[in-house]
Amino acid sequence: MSASSAPVALPGLDGKVALVTGGASGIGLATVRLLAASGAKVVVADLDEAAATAAADEVGGTAVRADVTSADDCAAAVAAAVDTYGHLDVVACNAGLTTYPTPAVEITEGDFDATFAVNVKGAWLTARAAVGALKDAGGGAIVVTGSVMGERTRPGFAAYAPSKAAANHLARSLAVEHAGDGIRVNAVAPVATDTAMLEKFLGTEDPAAARQRFESSIPLGRLATPEDVASAICFLASDSASFLTGVVLPVDGGRSI
Ligand SMILES: NC(=O)c1ccc[n+]([C@@H]2O[C@H](COP(=O)([O-])OP(=O)(O)OC[C@H]3O[C@@H](n4cnc5c(N)ncnc54)[C@H](O)[C@@H]3O)[C@@H](O)[C@H]2O)c1
Repeated sequence: MSASSAPVALPGLDGKVALVTGGASGIGLATVRLLAASGAKVVVADLDEAAATAAADEVGGTAVRADVTSADDCAAAVAAAVDTYGHLDVVACNAGLTTYPTPAVEITEGDFDATFAVNVKGAWLTARAAVGALKDAGGGAIVVTGSVMGERTRPGFAAYAPSKAAANHLARSLAVEHAGDGIRVNAVAPVATDTAMLEKFLGTEDPAAARQRFESSIPLGRLATPEDVASAICFLASDSASFLTGVVLPVDGGRSI
């Protein structure tokens, strides 16, 4: 599916209320669109308020300006869902960031801390804020956007890759704790995906050559689209995945075979 074609509705999401962090761009935006096309009400939470508003307006949802590194902002995003739509069923902990490839010994403390603050602590704060509302709804689903780099690292990403290993494992940790609450927690592990963030992964030296290298390392012969990843997130969030929890699902065209 191209980014411009309308998403095809998935079963098992109609009538649900979903919160998507980092929902204003890339994978998050594709997830917002697919959730809405599948009958869910969507709260778009993002640092970029204007883009969040545009995304929410597009799907008839609600926008919240939220920084996932702030416990107060995460609580406010959950409250916006419950106040606006009465309950919360689905949470996509998707906001994330990286830097350009940087040798491990040259990563600044600031960049290292910021990467973990958003990719790990931000996902945890979002999930922590949402658990009470999900329990009130009788259960629900959390999907964390991890990365293939959480399982297999590469040079230049000694902050990002470990942060995604932690994000992948956060999903498993939450899954074992909250299964008894009827809350399923899974992660997707995308390979390089055609979003704004891709520029960082390709680096500045020769992005076209880097892209070719990435593509040739993927058995299906192309990068992921945001829609590929959104499909996996929405499937894991849906009732169709009702017996799946603690799964880290590669969305990688066979990269990790
Ligand atoms: N693009 C890839 O190649 C790729 C591969 C694997 C995993 N991922 C992961 O997918 C997720 C989405 O990334 P994307 O590729 O769509 O990138 P993107 O840059 O298009 O979108 C990221 C979104 O997160 C938001 N965001 C950043 N920091 C935030 C914060 N502190 N609070 C709230 N929102 C914040 C940004 O404003 C942006 O809208 C990230 O977790 C990323 O690590 C991306």
